[in-house]
Amino acid sequence: MMKGKDLLTIEQLSAQEIDLILQKASALKKFQKEGISHKFMEGKNLAMIFHKASTRTRVSFEAGFSQMGGHALYLDSASTQMGRGEPIKDTARVLSRYVDAVMIRTFSQESVEEFAHYCDKPVINGLTDYAHPCQALADIMTAYEKLGELKNKKFVFIGDGNNVANSLIFTCAKIGMNITVSAPAGYQPDDKIIFSAKEIAKKSGSKVEIEIDPFKAALNANVLYTDVWASMGQESEREKRINDFKKYKIDETLLDKADKDCIVMHCLPAHRGEEIEDNVMEGKHSAIFDEAENRLHVQKAIMVLLMTDAEF
Ligand code: CP
Ligand code: NVA
Repeated sequence: MMKGKDLLTIEQLSAQEIDLILQKASALKKFQKEGISHKFMEGKNLAMIFHKASTRTRVSFEAGFSQMGGHALYLDSASTQMGRGEPIKDTARVLSRYVDAVMIRTFSQESVEEFAHYCDKPVINGLTDYAHPCQALADIMTAYEKLGELKNKKFVFIGDGNNVANSLIFTCAKIGMNITVSAPAGYQPDDKIIFSAKEIAKKSGSKVEIEIDPFKAALNANVLYTDVWASMGQESEREKRINDFKKYKIDETLLDKADKDCIVMHCLPAHRGEEIEDNVMEGKHSAIFDEAENRLHVQKAIMVLLMTDAEF
């Protein structure tokens, strides 16, 4: 169903494909935990292009590919010709001839789309300024594990309406989970994204809402989620953002508004004392480290589905 395709955004996935990725991710998680061999990538190579820093994405793709018997190559700007201006379309065509798939983390979504256009192997978006689809899929996998059925449950995103929020909005809309985003004026997701997600949500029967007041947004939340106030590439805006976002943090006061069994999530890395308090990260509602683990399993599932006919 997905072999040979790219994974560049959540928008391109059907609800059935999201479900399939999560099913395969759970199976691969079980294989991993029980030491069951799952060497679906023997003889295959994965190129991993990073134009931004990473801990989770790099290690989970590299370790995951190696656990499946393949070899992953880390490519950054500093040590490749990309950093010296070699055009994307040339790099894409050359790598296509060497490797079986490419994961790319960069700034603009257009660069990833251009790369995928010129690359005739599956391309996976490992984060752009616009989207972080692998993160959103791991997040939803975690929410299912902790909360069971998510239809009609409430996902609340507190903070900057950029890449992670965008991918979560579309994931929730597709799977039928209600999502409310609470961000200050000027930092809310683009109107086009909200309009398009609302159209999708009409079909799945869910709601997509913006609520400027974080305390109203958090009422009865089943998931409380946040991300850093200044993303990679926005370091120069840090001081202004600390001021603009100061009310948009997950602390005990906000947690009190949520459902008593709510889970707290964060894509990481976190800035304790800014968007999330240390006692919440370390507290009983936190699903943050299980969420980070699920990056591994979800990405392995994505690669198996895009690159193989494996049945399991
Ligand atoms: N959440 C996430 O993508 O983490 P890294 O930036 O460490 O890859
Ligand atoms: N919004 C953050 C996510 C990091 C995983 C960033 O883009 O830096």
